[in-house]
Amino acid sequence: NGNASKAGKSRNIIEKMEESGKNCVVFYGSQTGTAEDYASRLAKEGSSRFGLKTMTADLEEYDYENLDQFPDDKVAMFVLATYGEGEPTDNAVEFYEFFSGEEISFSEKADEQPLQSLKYVAFGLGNNTYEHYNSMVRNVSKYFDRLGAKRIGTAGEGDDGAGTMEEDFLAWKEPMWLALSDELNLEEREAIYEPVFEVTEKPELSADDDTVYLGEPNKSHLEGQSKGPYNAHNPYIAPISESKELFNDKTRNCLHMEIDVSGSNLSYTTGDHIAVWPTNAGKEVDRFLRITNHLDKRHTVIGVKGLDATAKVPFPSPTTYDAAIRYHMEICAPVSRQFVSQLAQFASTDAIKTEITKMGGDKDYFHEKVASKNFNIAQFLEWVSNGEPWEKVPFSLFIEALNKIQPRYYSISSSSLVSPKKITVTAVVESFEVPGAPHVVKGVTTNYLLALKQKQHGDAHPDPNGLDYAIMGPRNKYDGIHVPVHVRHSNFKLPSDPSKPVIMVGPGTGVAPFRAFVQERAQQAKNGENVGKTLLFFGCRRKTEDFMYEEEWKQWGADLGDNFELITAFSRDGPNKVYVQHKLKERAQEINELLEQKAYFYVCGDAAQMAREVNELMGTIISEKRGVAKSRAEEIVKGMRASNQYQEDVWS
Ligand code: 2AM
Repeated sequence: NGNASKAGKSRNIIEKMEESGKNCVVFYGSQTGTAEDYASRLAKEGSSRFGLKTMTADLEEYDYENLDQFPDDKVAMFVLATYGEGEPTDNAVEFYEFFSGEEISFSEKADEQPLQSLKYVAFGLGNNTYEHYNSMVRNVSKYFDRLGAKRIGTAGEGDDGAGTMEEDFLAWKEPMWLALSDELNLEEREAIYEPVFEVTEKPELSADDDTVYLGEPNKSHLEGQSKGPYNAHNPYIAPISESKELFNDKTRNCLHMEIDVSGSNLSYTTGDHIAVWPTNAGKEVDRFLRITNHLDKRHTVIGVKGLDATAKVPFPSPTTYDAAIRYHMEICAPVSRQFVSQLAQFASTDAIKTEITKMGGDKDYFHEKVASKNFNIAQFLEWVSNGEPWEKVPFSLFIEALNKIQPRYYSISSSSLVSPKKITVTAVVESFEVPGAPHVVKGVTTNYLLALKQKQHGDAHPDPNGLDYAIMGPRNKYDGIHVPVHVRHSNFKLPSDPSKPVIMVGPGTGVAPFRAFVQERAQQAKNGENVGKTLLFFGCRRKTEDFMYEEEWKQWGADLGDNFELITAFSRDGPNKVYVQHKLKERAQEINELLEQKAYFYVCGDAAQMAREVNELMGTIISEKRGVAKSRAEEIVKGMRASNQYQEDVWS
């Protein structure tokens, strides 16, 4: 197998488990890192509470033909995210194809139930605002059951749409552990922390040494000779060629940034996404270092290694505490209840220990005291100990329990036809207050982009506390302002025939990909192509405040002529809220006619409310205008989705 020889390691999971003395493997199918994080949490808990010998495994790195020989005194766990419209995550594609195939052949057993000796556990991560909710875990457990495998516990389902993922996971895993201990005769013991990683301070090295990683994601970046392919493992450090503010509003920022990828082989097509690799805010890095008692030695060099061959260190080392936290650890995410319970054993007083144990065990109490305030880990630690540093928590626990920082994806707002090497991003800077909480919650990546823009323009920092970004690391080998990026392909695409009509619905920054679409169609019209009807429904608060790209719409509208129309919904200009849905309703007749002429229909923006309501409304419009039952109209909308006539690019 090509992959195996490339990696130079075995793709045989059974062999790997034997060699390393494991009896529990936790596979993950992960896109943004959450499933991977849940997998390592299960692995850790299995070992600390039940003495299992656990390992985690990326689904992409193994073969599955020999699962018919999986020993019955071991267990395989599957943590499977469902991606987009019911698809497997990129790293689970081969695995999924193997089990969903027409004919599955295993290496030894050819009977009806070849997986009889396989004991498995399954948890899915999904979003019920999508139609194919948790289809990965549902389908995989269906295939496994059919092949005779023995499922332990229920196939769990976490719902990101309802915002209950974490609690769904916690509620699912307790009965699962009970069932599993029964099955494998495990004894539960008082959880003791068993590190997965070893962190060693290296006084013989200094942070100035050029072998020490200070935020560089891999070796070629460290050596200053990075080259493509640029992807989720290897970003391109791109110059920002332009940045500007789109809103006219003292309290909110919306950024338009142009990222120059001409120095790379990166390419994109209109409708794709760009991944931005963020850096944590200095203020939060400092808070974390202070409360965990690492402030004095922030620039001490550390080596991090896995304590056994299956533990993957999530960032390169040697590095420093500061760099690991700043560039690689997701320190700003809301702290999880499971992590909080793990901290009890390291509390400095019995009172704190009792309090934390209570939070860990009582979901409602945890919600009231912690989750509702949106505390990140350091804010939580500060609050619960009244600012007393937590000296006893091993640094390895933070590496294990916090997610590794993930790139964030933005819908590209430029057309690849017009601007193939300059990619634009359109993003609202996230910043909100939580009632009763002491901190303002600031989006990690959008505030980082704002800082880059301010630096580029020499603006005074509007935040008196200063989020203070160490932009691109202290080595700063790059002239000017840069940002690490890569491109991700998407299926959100204009019709290949430009004469087809298109209807676009994109309130707020949901308009981003439609800026690209309209720019592209305007260019096609200028090139003399026959461009069809182009309707854009855009919504914002006020005409004078957050009406983005007002001048550009005029200019492209002139190129497109009568075939272009921008229909605006200003929600806060009049006495009543006006949303894009109201405008769609007003134009129901025309929309239905265009759809009957096979117009493409696009929705971008908020998944939970807006996109759901638009979907529902389209059913109503079709039902009324075609005189068919609501249920029939809903079938028609589903059919349009299945044939890509109705496309969504939505986020929650
Ligand atoms: P609002 O904030 O005044 O309620 C971009 O955010 C625009 O989308 C704003 O005008 C916002 O209005 C509007 N919006 C909020 N919720 C919406 C929903 N469920 N459907 C459509 N638009 C919505």
